[in-house]
Amino acid sequence: MKTELHRAPILCVCLIIGSIFYLVRDIYPQQKTDGRTVACITAACHASMGKDAYVHRPVTEGECTACHGELQGHSDNPKKHKFERAKNLDKICYLCHERFEAKKFIHVPVKEEECIACHNPHGSPYRFQLVAQGSALCFQCHEEGLLSGNYVHGPAAAGGCIACHDPHAADYAKNLKEDGPELCFACHSEMGAEFRSAKVIHKPVAENCLNCHNPHSGRKKFMLGDEAPTLCFKCHEEKKEWIMNAEVQHGALITGNSCLNCHNPHSSNIEKRLSMAPLDLCLSCHDKELKTPDGKLLTNMKKLLEENKDHHGPIRQKNCAGCHNPHGSHEFRLLKEKYPSSFYTPYRIENFELCFKCHEEEILQHPATTKLTDFRNGENNLHFKHINKPDKGRTCRACHETHASNHPKHIRDSVPFGKWEFPLNYVKTETGGSCSPGCHELRKYDRLNAADNK
Ligand code: HEC
Ligand code: HEC
Ligand code: HEC
Ligand code: HEC
Ligand code: HEC
Ligand code: HEC
Ligand code: HEC
Ligand code: HEC
Ligand code: HEC
Ligand code: HEC
Ligand code: HEC
Ligand code: HEC
Ligand code: HEC
Repeated sequence: MKTELHRAPILCVCLIIGSIFYLVRDIYPQQKTDGRTVACITAACHASMGKDAYVHRPVTEGECTACHGELQGHSDNPKKHKFERAKNLDKICYLCHERFEAKKFIHVPVKEEECIACHNPHGSPYRFQLVAQGSALCFQCHEEGLLSGNYVHGPAAAGGCIACHDPHAADYAKNLKEDGPELCFACHSEMGAEFRSAKVIHKPVAENCLNCHNPHSGRKKFMLGDEAPTLCFKCHEEKKEWIMNAEVQHGALITGNSCLNCHNPHSSNIEKRLSMAPLDLCLSCHDKELKTPDGKLLTNMKKLLEENKDHHGPIRQKNCAGCHNPHGSHEFRLLKEKYPSSFYTPYRIENFELCFKCHEEEILQHPATTKLTDFRNGENNLHFKHINKPDKGRTCRACHETHASNHPKHIRDSVPFGKWEFPLNYVKTETGGSCSPGCHELRKYDRLNAADNK
């Protein structure tokens, strides 16, 4: 124990001398030249060499000649000495490092072997002896305008150019490390997972995110070139034309996020990439009284459907778009087909195209029937009687609700007539029914034993 304590100071001294020796050796590398040894780094010569935070290994090792070759002449007067090979760049780096040529796309300065455009051959304040950090390295040669859009992509703003680009060589064009959406999913991994499990994928998204996004910066939020609807119209020209020419415009297209009010731009599990189930989508806005451009307050559909339990077939199938075109229409109330907007209309079967997309038009065409419709008194077809008139035929709305009602066969509570509503007082029986609206006295119909209404 005691003897070891005595040895400690001696060990210390040895270590200090050793370190000094080592440091001196390192700072003053010895070079062999003309058969003699000279130091390249001295207090007077190349004093700053090797002092950077990141020093190239051959410099640390004092192998100046590996790149510069042997000193040529004038070795007694270093001021006149000459290096040869350092000018011959295509030889010096590949002397010790492997070529990048194995890949398909080689960055031009690498191809031209200008390694020192990016790497200082001796050392630098930055890792890998780079001559600059982050995007500054690239902006030596590339336009900074790349990042001049109002919205700059996170990794590009942070100087992470090489997160996407390989500075030397890559398998994909533009020196990209990955191809198509996979490049983006490398970081946006949650989106990648969602995308892979989605039922409906937007074709341009599957192809390439760059169809809409700029990878560096963009004029509009999310580095988009344009926002909806302009962005969408670039490819969906037929929709643009339709919307521009529609006589009845849908407010949904001009409020909020336009197309994105209803469609997810990327993918979804719902047909047509809707952002919600179709009915919920419509009711997400039509859960209040909305105002049309001409000032009419529209029915609160959500409330109407909650209060009226007998929903019309297509609504039970949750398909509002069975009758309405969400993108606009030539027909009133965005209807997909013709349907009169008035209480009376001269009878023409084409006026009711909407209903007869799904129902039998024969219910209006024969004055007498035993089977075409249940709305008959004996054989007297009451649909025909009310509607099939040359001048003042009634429209379906005289008796039916379109969306929902609390009466069988979607019969209305009351008849809309100008500003008035007359109660309909409809009563259904096994074989017929009765009503006593504002239009006439109580009338009955019975399919088996025709009622006498006189
Ligand atoms: C990996 C190769 C390499 C090694 C090792 C190397 N050099 Fe260089 N050196 C170069 C290249 C290449 C240039 C030319 C740089 C340029 O044109 O910008 C250069 C340039 C120089 C210059 C010119 C001035 C300057 O810095 O631009 C001096 C001086 C120099 N080297 C000294 C040394 C000394 C001393 C050592 C050893 C401690 C050394 N070099 C080791 C490659 C190397
Ligand atoms: C005499 C051999 C030699 C020459 C010539 C040489 N290097 Fe190196 N270089 C090395 C060694 C050894 C390392 C250290 C490797 C390690 O740590 O894995 C190194 C490291 C590097 C590194 C850092 C790598 C890392 O992982 O930290 C870069 C960048 C580099 N060299 C670039 C160059 C460039 C550019 C040239 C040409 C101007 C060049 N080298 C010429 C031997 C050389
Ligand atoms: C456009 C700039 C640029 C050019 C030109 C360039 N490099 Fe690099 N190099 C880089 C960057 C940036 C890194 C750091 C990569 C990283 O962080 O993954 C790097 C890393 C390296 C490394 C260490 C890591 C690795 O990938 O092995 C070596 C070695 C290297 N470069 C050698 C070279 C050689 C040799 C040349 C010339 C043939 C060259 N570089 C040309 C930018 C460049
Ligand atoms: C020494 C100059 C120089 C530096 C530094 C430089 N590049 Fe380049 N780069 C070029 C040249 C030259 C081209 C080919 C001409 C062109 O397409 O603009 C090029 C092309 C490219 C291309 C397009 C390839 C293609 O196929 O069109 C990308 C991407 C690129 N560089 C990225 C980078 C990144 C990222 C950095 C920084 C890590 C960088 N460059 C640094 C000179 C440089
Ligand atoms: C998120 C990935 C990503 C990042 C980060 C990124 N780039 Fe790009 N870069 C791309 C893609 C993808 C392309 C191909 C664009 C195309 O084909 O239209 C590209 C193209 C380029 C081009 C070729 C020019 C052109 O328009 O074709 C250059 C130069 C370039 N990038 C430089 C940079 C620089 C410099 C940075 C850092 C400031 C950077 N990139 C950051 C993904 C990225
Ligand atoms: C290296 C990782 C990385 C890669 C690769 C990458 N991103 Fe990003 N991206 C980010 C980061 C980090 C943000 C910033 C996130 C934030 O601000 O919340 C971002 C943000 C975005 C945003 C804006 C999101 C927002 O909420 O503001 C969009 C859009 C985007 N990226 C699209 C892309 C596309 C398209 C690609 C492929 C060309 C891509 N990204 C590749 C890392 C990446
Ligand atoms: C058809 C055009 C289009 C394509 C192609 C596209 N996007 Fe988008 N992206 C948009 C629009 C529009 C928005 C804005 C959404 C919003 O306002 O809610 C957006 C928003 C984003 C956002 C930010 C908001 C969010 O949802 O997190 C990210 C991240 C994003 N996109 C990534 C991608 C990636 C990754 C790809 C490729 C797989 C891609 N985009 C392809 C149109 C597109
Ligand atoms: C780069 C072109 C492009 C852009 C921009 C674009 N789309 Fe598409 N879109 C397509 C293509 C291609 C299809 C597939 C058409 C087909 O299969 O017939 C498609 C299909 C659709 C479909 C049908 C459902 C489906 O996925 O098949 C909807 C809905 C749609 N796009 C909405 C939009 C919206 C909303 C925008 C704006 C945010 C938009 N698109 C922007 C090209 C584009
Ligand atoms: C109010 C909701 C809503 C808005 C806003 C909306 N869409 Fe749609 N879109 C739908 C519905 C619902 C469908 C399915 C229609 C159907 O099944 O008949 C659809 C279908 C589509 C289709 C598939 C082809 C077709 O017509 O069936 C495309 C393309 C499309 N929309 C593009 C757009 C574009 C572009 C915009 C913005 C200008 C937009 N949509 C705005 C609800 C909407
Ligand atoms: C983003 C909100 C929003 C969504 C989602 C929405 N609408 Fe609308 N809708 C409106 C607004 C606002 C109006 C009133 C302005 C107007 O008349 O266009 C309106 C008006 C209407 C009108 C009357 C149009 C007129 O002027 O006569 C109908 C019919 C209609 N919507 C049906 C639907 C259907 C069906 C859906 C689902 C496919 C739907 N809406 C989804 C906002 C929305
Ligand atoms: C069977 C066809 C059909 C279906 C399905 C349908 N509608 Fe309608 N809708 C119409 C008709 C017809 C009108 C015009 C009613 C009238 O004025 O008599 C109308 C009118 C409207 C109006 C305007 C109401 C007002 O106060 O004038 C809105 C809003 C509306 N529908 C929304 C919806 C929503 C939301 C759905 C899905 C829940 C839906 N429609 C499903 C046929 C339909
Ligand atoms: C998109 C298809 C579709 C359109 C358009 C449509 N209907 Fe219907 N309608 C149905 C379905 C489905 C049923 C349910 C049939 C069943 O339950 O057997 C139904 C049921 C009815 C019923 C009740 C019949 C019964 O036996 O219970 C009446 C009344 C009715 N529709 C009237 C109309 C009127 C009036 C129109 C035009 C404004 C119209 N429908 C437009 C699909 C449609
Ligand atoms: C004058 C009132 C009235 C008018 C107008 C009217 N309906 Fe009806 N409709 C009824 C009654 C009442 C029933 C129920 C008959 C029964 O089941 O006893 C009915 C039943 C129906 C049914 C169920 C099948 C059937 O024929 O029994 C359909 C479908 C229907 N109507 C469609 C329409 C269409 C479409 C229009 C407009 C073109 C229309 N109705 C106009 C009163 C009317």
